[in-house]
Amino acid sequence: MTDANTSPLTPVLTKRWLSPNAWTLRTYEQLEGYTALRKALGAAPDQLVELVKAAGLRGRGGAGFPTGVKWGFMPKDPVKPHYLVINADEGEPGTCKDIPLMMADPHSLIEGCVIASYAMRANHCMIYVRGEALHPIRRLNHAVREAYQAGYLGEDILGSGFDLDIVVHAGAGAYICGEETALLDSLEGKRGQPRLKPPFPAAAGLYACPTTVNNVETIASVPYIVNGGSDWFRSMGREKSPGPKIFSLSGHVERPGQYEAPLGTTLRELLDLAGGMKDGIPLKFWTPGGSSTPLFTADHLDTPLDFEGAAEAGSMLGTTALMIFNETVSVPWAVMKWTQFYEHESCGKCTPCREGTYWLAQVLERMVDGRGTEEDIDTLLDVCDNIFGRSFCALGDGAVSPITSGIQYFREEFLALCRKEQHDDTASALVGAA
Ligand code: NAI
Ligand code: SF4
Repeated sequence: MTDANTSPLTPVLTKRWLSPNAWTLRTYEQLEGYTALRKALGAAPDQLVELVKAAGLRGRGGAGFPTGVKWGFMPKDPVKPHYLVINADEGEPGTCKDIPLMMADPHSLIEGCVIASYAMRANHCMIYVRGEALHPIRRLNHAVREAYQAGYLGEDILGSGFDLDIVVHAGAGAYICGEETALLDSLEGKRGQPRLKPPFPAAAGLYACPTTVNNVETIASVPYIVNGGSDWFRSMGREKSPGPKIFSLSGHVERPGQYEAPLGTTLRELLDLAGGMKDGIPLKFWTPGGSSTPLFTADHLDTPLDFEGAAEAGSMLGTTALMIFNETVSVPWAVMKWTQFYEHESCGKCTPCREGTYWLAQVLERMVDGRGTEEDIDTLLDVCDNIFGRSFCALGDGAVSPITSGIQYFREEFLALCRKEQHDDTASALVGAA
């Protein structure tokens, strides 16, 4: 996290990260922690839903669905138990915003969970964390214990009559369990595979009960909205994509890290904040939102990084994981590495993705190995065409994005590989970027 006072950084979620012992309840309370909860418990649940709708908060996990609208899908009169599930299974390559947030400021997530659960009349909340993330799991568990001891969790929270239990659940490291319905299956003890939607989780989610699944950054934003109000939140970002966002810059930049800036900030502005390209070597390509979004080039440096701006440029905003590659990196090599990842993580439920990612990896491996032919480029595009829009969940679509965009912008490089004019691009160039 960069602590600069100069605009355009807007440290909201990251503002406590550099405080000494920021993860402890003591520090959190000293820095206005749990004041939003006191305020929220004095309001009616539906008022909070309306507040989040008015703020225009959109899901920070990648898809950008309006959070208040999603909360509004939950039934008003609980017949079955209601659940809030936090998707902390951060697994998208390049994405590293939720884990630092949980490490540095776990109480902001917990406070957001209590407010959101109260708004949706849920008395149970599960935080599903990526299993490999041992330190955040320990830190969250510690923070949950502190919150119980202080009366922020458990029965009759702060004398309001509202009860909430939070369980921190460690996943087992499957990327697909970041897909919300696979995550729910995993929580139920089943093999994590996506469910057919509809029904959406608000109608039938965890144990077939009304459930809302929200991302960590989304829920951690809620206490700030309660304290600051919807107009304050809308004073940052763009009309349809308001608020601050944590942008994760990695790869060939001078100062990689998390930069919190308003939605709509461009890579050119973020690169300025991050000290520019490493060693001054020019930019070749980058991802706007992790490896599931198309590759962008230097022509996209001024694309506003918000949901609409990314869509106009032909991409989803995704997780704002900006992986930056300079001109020493081979595009086919990078695309092959991502495709191997998707092949490994395909859950196998549907044929286009299960078989398609296998064949994509095979073809790319032989191209990078110098055994490809020019026809292989058409084969890749044909397989991509048979995966995109024909897969059961978003993983299939995501897997083809780097390939189709890589060929769109760097076809000559793929052709050169097939003509044995292979560039002297080394694996170490990409390792240096990772
Ligand atoms: P989606 O657009 O299908 O759904 C987004 C959310 O809105 C879900 O919670 C869904 O239940 C809800 N929703 C959508 N339509 C609804 C309706 N008609 N009624 C009720 N609820 C509705 O997107 P999905 O598949 O959940 O997420 C894809 C995104 O996830 C991609 O943008 C990708 O970037 C991101 N992603 C993030 C990862 C991470 O590590 N954070 C990993 C992999 C992908
Ligand atoms: Fe599983 Fe891939 Fe099909 Fe999704 S698209 S259900 S990950 S096989």
